[in-house]
Amino acid sequence: MKVVLITGASKGIGKSIARLYLEKGFIVWAFNRSVNKETYKELSCLAESYKSKYFEKTVDITDEKQCRNSLKDVIEESGKVDILINNAGITDTSLFLMTSLKRMRTVFETNFFANMFLSQIVVRYMIKNGGGSIINVASVTGMRPIDGAISYGASKSALIYSTQVMAKELGQYNIRVNAVCPGFIDTDMWKNRDDAAKQAGIEKSALKRMGTPSEVARTVYFLSSEEASYITGGLLVVDGGMRIV
Ligand code: NAI
Repeated sequence: MKVVLITGASKGIGKSIARLYLEKGFIVWAFNRSVNKETYKELSCLAESYKSKYFEKTVDITDEKQCRNSLKDVIEESGKVDILINNAGITDTSLFLMTSLKRMRTVFETNFFANMFLSQIVVRYMIKNGGGSIINVASVTGMRPIDGAISYGASKSALIYSTQVMAKELGQYNIRVNAVCPGFIDTDMWKNRDDAAKQAGIEKSALKRMGTPSEVARTVYFLSSEEASYITGGLLVVDGGMRIV
């Protein structure tokens, strides 16, 4: 059975990704910052129905020691990681002059440095295992400048850039590295935004609606699968046309 490791799978896009891999018969490991009992129950039941397996570790991905120890547990139990999905992320909507360096660093710690560290330690096992696939969940915001996205957008730009460097350097080990760049997806990331901001997001897309977490999950799955065996360093935009409007 193939093993996939997903960060931030307690809700939103990450949970949808976990659900899809369970339906496809994978061993799914989730590194979640906190325990969400409902999610755990739901995904464990799904695993039973599809004869797949679901394991969860409580991990703050910015904590290197926690990442290292939890990855050891994954390897001890499942022996390998075939697919790593760097999904966990945090947002920030403050304007450039209002964003403290402390806040910028916090956003970069989660959205960029944690992904780099986890990828570095997972890649060593992938090399031993003859290859693998990494998907970074970036954002369309990392591809074009948006007011109030200085720290979030810049951290996602860094993730997009690093996706391409990683793809170049790791291709020789049969490791593919790709990014998905979602647009405006209906998750808790938007729960504290007012209706006007949400309406503006909808208007900015060609399809005039929000995307669903499962639409992102399906794209992640495709990129990680054999269907995409010759795709690496790719950036797949899942934004209902937001970038081109
Ligand atoms: P969400 O807020 O619903 O979920 C984020 C997940 O990341 C949560 O499970 C949270 O606990 C986890 N997380 C955050 N910091 C963590 C840490 N230090 N350690 C472990 N887990 C941590 O958000 P959503 O929308 O599901 O976001 C998932 C990814 O998609 C993020 O990287 C986000 O930037 C990206 N994205 C989301 C978009 C949207 O419109 N919802 C648009 C573009 C990108």
